[in-house]
Amino acid sequence: MRSSVEAQAASAPVAEHLGDIISPVSGGRVPRHVAIIMDGNGRWATQRGLPRAAGHRAGTENIRRVIERFCDHAVQHLTLYAFSTENWTRPTREVQYIIRLLGRFIRRELENLDRNGVRLVHLGHLEDLPGWLQAHVTRAIEETRGNTRLTLNLCFSYGGRDDIVMAMRAIAAAGLAPDQISEETVSAHLYTAGIPDPDLVIRTGGDMRISNFLVWQAAYAELYFTDSYWPDFGREDIDIALADYGRRKRKFGGLLAEDIEAPRT
Ligand code: FPP
Repeated sequence: MRSSVEAQAASAPVAEHLGDIISPVSGGRVPRHVAIIMDGNGRWATQRGLPRAAGHRAGTENIRRVIERFCDHAVQHLTLYAFSTENWTRPTREVQYIIRLLGRFIRRELENLDRNGVRLVHLGHLEDLPGWLQAHVTRAIEETRGNTRLTLNLCFSYGGRDDIVMAMRAIAAAGLAPDQISEETVSAHLYTAGIPDPDLVIRTGGDMRISNFLVWQAAYAELYFTDSYWPDFGREDIDIALADYGRRKRKFGGLLAEDIEAPRT
């Protein structure tokens, strides 16, 4: 008898770029879902002799042009790692500043997001935020609910392992039997339920690690690292990252049709 792994391999579909989109800007294949670790704000500021807060402010202001460029390319989902469950350990002043920036971002950008057909979604522990900000975020989510051009998933007080723990708790609370739990069950209980997995994860700032970002969802994502600090990551960097993605061969553990050998006779 064949093992289930062998059976799966025999019937494995040829890898397809099912979710990919043709960019109206470049004419190339671009991902449906891009997720970004926005790193390097502090170093951007230090390099200029400025306080770290100035880097976070510049990083927040950069979000608008990044959204616009991904919209140009017809990318449908953009996930931004703004504040992790671990970022709470930073000095209180810095944490408070980033929290205020989230409020400012929503105040300043909501109208523009809405006008551009962007839907806002929050991933993470909304309840960790001060009440006034929870209300702000909730209102922005409600007001943009009907928008379909791009979904902006903002991760704030989000951690990938925590996401899985929360999903496990929900599954246990629902009383599911072990054999009722599949990969789909887990996916359906994550903060990202209903959102396709990221095709491309970009990290700015030069480090090459995932830092607890979408650890379940990014299992088959293409990874792209750039030395640009987040406040500098602009249109050209996005075009380069997407062109790089367009050259990747995604196999999802299977084989591409072109790599399958003809049977020997
Ligand atoms: C990493 O840079 C960045 C963060 C921990 C915060 C990212 C936050 C923003 C871009 C602004 C907040 C966004 C919204 C929407 C409010 P770092 O501080 O680790 O930089 P470094 O590695 O150079 O020190």
